[in-house]
Amino acid sequence: MNKAIRVPLDHLDPSHLRRIFGSFLTGVTIVTTIDGEGQPRGFTANSFTSVSLDPPLVLVCIDRKAASLRAFASCERFAINVLAESQRDLSSRFASKTGDKFAGVSFEKIGAGPPLLAGSLAWIDCENHQIVEVGDHVLLVGKVVSLHEGAGEPLGFFKGGYVSFSLERETPKIAPNTVFGCIVEHDGSVLLMREHDGSDVWTIPGAASTSAQAHMGGLIAKLDDLGVPVDVNFLYSVFELLDQRQTYIVYRGTVRERPNLRDCECFKFFSRDDLCWERLKHPQLSTMLRRYFDERDRSRFGVYVDSKDGGRVAKLEDAVLPFSSIEMLAQ
Ligand SMILES: Cc1cc2nc3c(=O)[nH]c(=O)nc-3n(C[C@H](O)[C@H](O)[C@H](O)COP(=O)(O)O)c2cc1C
Repeated sequence: MNKAIRVPLDHLDPSHLRRIFGSFLTGVTIVTTIDGEGQPRGFTANSFTSVSLDPPLVLVCIDRKAASLRAFASCERFAINVLAESQRDLSSRFASKTGDKFAGVSFEKIGAGPPLLAGSLAWIDCENHQIVEVGDHVLLVGKVVSLHEGAGEPLGFFKGGYVSFSLERETPKIAPNTVFGCIVEHDGSVLLMREHDGSDVWTIPGAASTSAQAHMGGLIAKLDDLGVPVDVNFLYSVFELLDQRQTYIVYRGTVRERPNLRDCECFKFFSRDDLCWERLKHPQLSTMLRRYFDERDRSRFGVYVDSKDGGRVAKLEDAVLPFSSIEMLAQ
């Protein structure tokens, strides 16, 4: 079991607080309205909560510092658009300070109502029922006036990163004995993990699983606890260890904040020169990491896909296989 960390209340670090609050897995919404000048406004929110069935009430919390606070606090109607997995980019856009968040976004309106985003899993159109100021946020309580239910997989949010659920349903397509791993790099060094038996054998962070999503979620949370907040980005290598009948699916990850490795002898960052190449668990890991360091120097990454005739590295101008595309591999 993980150690409990007691934090004196007068020393609460906001980023620590955000991390702990972020352990509560949520969906993601975009809250929209029309401002006093008739312009569409919106922001990404995961603080959405249903409050009451009779009368039908919902709430969402908006930061007092949000640029759109005034528009929402004074509007007559707003909508909660529940995002589908395919709307992840939209979520990032509405979480940014981009000038025209609605440029190129398709939406409809009912009369003078708020923008209802196309492709949402659901939207909930509300009257502005009550505004409650609480701490550094304002609660917008809405009374539901109309609803729409769409289709698709939900977008999730957990510990500061997006989570997709469709992979869970794809599980039977992923071969048993698959190891999902990640090359986590910071400042030219990669993170390696010591074998669980305590021997001086090292491998990339990862573990065997039949579900990429379940495993990566656990790995991201574990690294976060160790003080290495990581975003898992793009597919890097797929290879098979024939003697062990094991498939490796390896992603590239980037460290979000300066890592601060805590309490661990089992995880360590190695530069190319420090790396104990002969103590890597498999020769294939050594080949992959050498390629990684070479490609990193040139800032051009490829994707290696193993095959019976020896495998090949596909060069990519831009990395095109984000983590969420892994099901393509299994088909
Ligand atoms: C997944 C996610 C959830 C968020 N949830 C909220 C939220 O519930 N309330 C909030 O005020 N900001 C939330 N934010 C941050 C806002 O989306 C962000 O500050 C945005 O820039 C506000 O837009 P505005 O300044 O144009 O109003 C969230 C961001 C992300 C990525």
